[in-house]
Amino acid sequence: MSEKAGSGRDLWGGHFSSGPAPLMEQINASIGFDKRLYAQDIRGSIAHARMLAHSGIISEEDCDAILMGLETIQDEIEQGKFAFSTELEDIHLNIESRLTDLIGEPGRRLHTGRSRNDQVATDLRLWTRDALDRAVMLIESVMRALVERADRHAADVMPGFTHLQAAQPVTFGHHLLAYVEMLARDRSRFADARKRMNVSPLGAAALAGTSFPVDRSMTAEELGFDAPCDNSIDAVSDRDFVLDYLAGASILAVHLSRLAEELVLWSTPQFGFVRMSEDFTSGSSIMPQKRNPDAAELVRGKSGRVIGHLQAMLVTLKGLPMTYSKDMQEDKEGLFDAVDTVELCLAASREMIRSMQVFPERMEAAAGVGFTTATDLADWLVRVKGAPFREAHSVSARAVKRAEERGCGLEDLSPDDLAAIDGRLEAAVFEVLGVHRSVASRMSHGGTAPERVREQVARWRSVL
Ligand code: ARG
Repeated sequence: MSEKAGSGRDLWGGHFSSGPAPLMEQINASIGFDKRLYAQDIRGSIAHARMLAHSGIISEEDCDAILMGLETIQDEIEQGKFAFSTELEDIHLNIESRLTDLIGEPGRRLHTGRSRNDQVATDLRLWTRDALDRAVMLIESVMRALVERADRHAADVMPGFTHLQAAQPVTFGHHLLAYVEMLARDRSRFADARKRMNVSPLGAAALAGTSFPVDRSMTAEELGFDAPCDNSIDAVSDRDFVLDYLAGASILAVHLSRLAEELVLWSTPQFGFVRMSEDFTSGSSIMPQKRNPDAAELVRGKSGRVIGHLQAMLVTLKGLPMTYSKDMQEDKEGLFDAVDTVELCLAASREMIRSMQVFPERMEAAAGVGFTTATDLADWLVRVKGAPFREAHSVSARAVKRAEERGCGLEDLSPDDLAAIDGRLEAAVFEVLGVHRSVASRMSHGGTAPERVREQVARWRSVL
């Protein structure tokens, strides 16, 4: 017997005659990353021990000893005094082994009626549930920062784009509220995921359930789950909740990336719409004028790794037969990294929005560039002169062409120029060619008019 002292094989290796190869230990151990589950693992074990005692499966004295031991272990871990061991593979065996060191035989009774398969599924669900709750709160904080900005800029005009070509003037507040809508959907995706995932695998044991008279509803309730999972095979195999988080996180990361891209664009000297705070930018070592929007670029860039983690998890699970396979140990690092990444990106986005300087005069100057009120001219012909829209569109196109030839804006054409294009274009049309008139007229539901934007700001304030 060459069994190593303190290896996982002490706990399950009765029929093994030797310890694992060093490479096996290296590929197999998850303690390096799953130590992040320690609090959930202890919480799950406390619930399990109480249930075992309540159901008469272990004695109250053993349960008391287990609870005391687990409390000591939690303190040890939190004070940095716990010696994590790779030989003990993962957080579950590390804690269980230490428990037995501390309290002796009762520690060896804790694993009655459970397996690491339902244990890890429970721990990871508890961990992911907290992450979902944090995501919802962080998303709301970004939404609030955007709503406050939108309120300040409800009437400030900027160019709206399609194809990144100047299209029609919009209000900056309206533009910012578009992101609030996206984030609200993200928030609801995380909230949905939470509802769906909040069932307890504990007591599914290895895969088939257990012959002990466990009370799965009791542990479910103690751990804040709505109910126990109804199928033990599914309970230990299911990692949909990880996919749900990663899918929601990927879509969120894409939204944050689009916002970050706009911040990058708007903060160029060519746009000059915003200036990112010094706190979130860097200079250049050779170009003294540079102010690089690094934080925004990183929010944009980090979306790639979040999306990658979703892809990796989908592929990992794709070919797995029921039930647990060790492949599933690969669920954690990607999830942990995605959670850390989106939380960082949300906080950074929120602070960038709060601290950036906005230049409404620059936006307004750009808002009319590119004949952005050409649609207003056409609409005027329809509204005031009863022209069919298609005809009005071609009249307006001719006005644009004339302005291009003259090298001026639509509003700078002379009344004679306009009359020469179409007899119906009288001086009154100038009233609709200004960018403020243009946005003010877009009063349709969800439109860009300052009045509509203020209504939306008020709605979001009451929701948030
Ligand atoms: N460290 C393992 C994981 O994260 C725990 C479950 C191990 N189960 C087993 N049957 N070996 O997936």
